[in-house]
Amino acid sequence: MTPQRSYRRLGAPRAMLLAGFLGGVCTSRLVAVLRRPRPPTRGGRGFDSRRIVHSASDAILSVDERTRILLANPAAAHMFGTGVGVMKGSALARYIQPPSVVISSPPPDAMLTPLDYFPTGSGRAGRRATDYAVTGIRANGQLFPIEGSISSVAHEGRRVYTVILRDVSERHLVQQKLSRSHDQLRQLSAALQSIREEERTHIARELHDDLGQLLASLRMDLTLLGRIDHLPEASVHLIAGMETNLLTAITSLRRIATNLRPRALDEGGLYFALQGLRDEFVERHGIACTLLADEAELRLDDSASTAVFRIVQEALTNIARHADARSVVLNLYRSNSDLLVTIRDDGRGIRAEDMDKAESLGLVGMRERVWGMRGEITISGDEPPGTRIDIVLPLDGHLA
Ligand SMILES: Nc1ncnc2c1ncn2[C@@H]1O[C@H](COP(=O)(O)OP(=O)(O)OP(=O)(O)O)[C@@H](O)[C@H]1O
Ligand SMILES: [Mg+2]
Repeated sequence: MTPQRSYRRLGAPRAMLLAGFLGGVCTSRLVAVLRRPRPPTRGGRGFDSRRIVHSASDAILSVDERTRILLANPAAAHMFGTGVGVMKGSALARYIQPPSVVISSPPPDAMLTPLDYFPTGSGRAGRRATDYAVTGIRANGQLFPIEGSISSVAHEGRRVYTVILRDVSERHLVQQKLSRSHDQLRQLSAALQSIREEERTHIARELHDDLGQLLASLRMDLTLLGRIDHLPEASVHLIAGMETNLLTAITSLRRIATNLRPRALDEGGLYFALQGLRDEFVERHGIACTLLADEAELRLDDSASTAVFRIVQEALTNIARHADARSVVLNLYRSNSDLLVTIRDDGRGIRAEDMDKAESLGLVGMRERVWGMRGEITISGDEPPGTRIDIVLPLDGHLA
């Protein structure tokens, strides 16, 4: 008899191979094997399917149409914490939870088939798109995650299902730990960013208020000194030189303080801070830069203003260092409760491999700031000319 095969499959590569093999060769034999006394092996010319199933490291069940377990291998019994003999004849529901869709609205005749336990498109997918992720029930009642595949053959007018299962509890635990530590790293990075910003603000203020005041008063004293009559020629020269140096010191101090944290960010708001950034960029690098934004739309709280400012600052630094661009457009506007930011240059364009440089942290920091605000960022260099950065930032709770 040639068995008719219908086949729905998933699972890890090894399970797939095994499933294919079993679907083709073993399943119909298993059914026969279950009904007859064990046939003698054929001296190495054929396969002893019972032995293959018995020694498989994946859990294998053979199930009839009414979800009754016809056969379980030792790996299956071990996985469910019971014995092969106990499993044989039991309902599949004792070991695998029907998916919630089925539990909440059972089929009209309340009669599940084995396929109902592995419904397409329900449950969580496993490693592959076609994997079925189901929940196992150990003999002691403990639930655990399983990844599995199911195939069936028609045998003597009845359908027999082969289910191959793998316990993925450990993988899930590792995934959970990974995602926890990822979250912690993200929180740490956000905390470090805000500590860094506070320190920058503090140092900028000290420089500006303390040192700046001191230099300004020294300059006034020098001016008074220069007004004294009949000063020797050498002293007049010395005073003029000191005045020039003092002016340079005051200018440098302002630049350093502004680089640390622009006063406009705290006093004027994001729009004026961006204007200052744009002006400084144009003056320093000779690259044209247009700022398209509305002051009223950029009245945001400190954390959002700082995040947007630092993102634009890093983008402009990158353009000056890497892009070889002639012009830049900064476009910031509100759409409903989001702020949309687009930064475009007409330079050489960022390449895919540039975005994964291990030693580069600028883009990573940019992404972290955006994700920290639950926003989205897209960086692309494939739309010539140049590089385009698109950011969507939800502003809920960030409006000033
Ligand atoms: N506007 C741009 N045009 C072309 N290439 C760019 C642009 N912006 C970034 N890049 C490329 O992407 C890479 C990564 O940028 P990223 O800002 O992460 O690092 P970096 O600027 O090299 O170093 P840093 O960590 O100091 O920021 C850059 O080295 C550069 O090759
Ligand atoms: Mg950079």
